[in-house]
Amino acid sequence: MRNDIARVVVPEREIATRVASMADEFTAAYADSGEGIKIATILTGSLVFLADLIRCMPMRIRIALVAASRYTRKTTESPGDRLEYVILPDLCNCDVLIVDDILDTGGTLRIVRSLVRSGKPRSVGTPVVLRKHGVAPPDTPVVSVGFDIEDEFVIGYGLAYDGLYRNFPYIGVLKSEFHERERAS
Ligand code: IMP
Ligand code: MG
Repeated sequence: MRNDIARVVVPEREIATRVASMADEFTAAYADSGEGIKIATILTGSLVFLADLIRCMPMRIRIALVAASRYTRKTTESPGDRLEYVILPDLCNCDVLIVDDILDTGGTLRIVRSLVRSGKPRSVGTPVVLRKHGVAPPDTPVVSVGFDIEDEFVIGYGLAYDGLYRNFPYIGVLKSEFHERERAS
């Protein structure tokens, strides 16, 4: 499968350094949070990031899961996002982190954030590994970004193409002929 990769965009070691420093920032920010924090994990792409992040945060952390998907209804004119599966605990007066893999158009984050906000948390932070340059509209909620990248389709470190490549330890771009072959099949 390594032969499917055209180019590495962010190498494994750079990811590890950056994720550890994001974890340090959050640990310091929530140092006075007696009850600790609750993390809303947007499945499935953020699982690898979540695992690395929380292991660098020596504090009280509780984890909740949210499955969101981009949803284009082919028979109507209203494409959008939907939440497929949500397990959120009581968030009232809690410090909450919404963890996602990548900020593309910002649609997923917007819908999950509004759900989390409806639980009346004390604060909401939104760390993402990647942000695609210039795609999200200016009114997209502020996020903590690991790396800004060009607007191209990437895989690895949790991100998938057709459900594959999430286990790759780096972030990379697929060879175009492979992409096309996959699409045709
Ligand atoms: P958004 O709602 O447009 O911000 O898209 C966010 C979701 O789309 C991410 O959580 C990913 O699951 C998926 N996504 C967006 N861009 C990519 C990519 O380049 N590779 C893999 N998945 C992506
Ligand atoms: Mg996702």
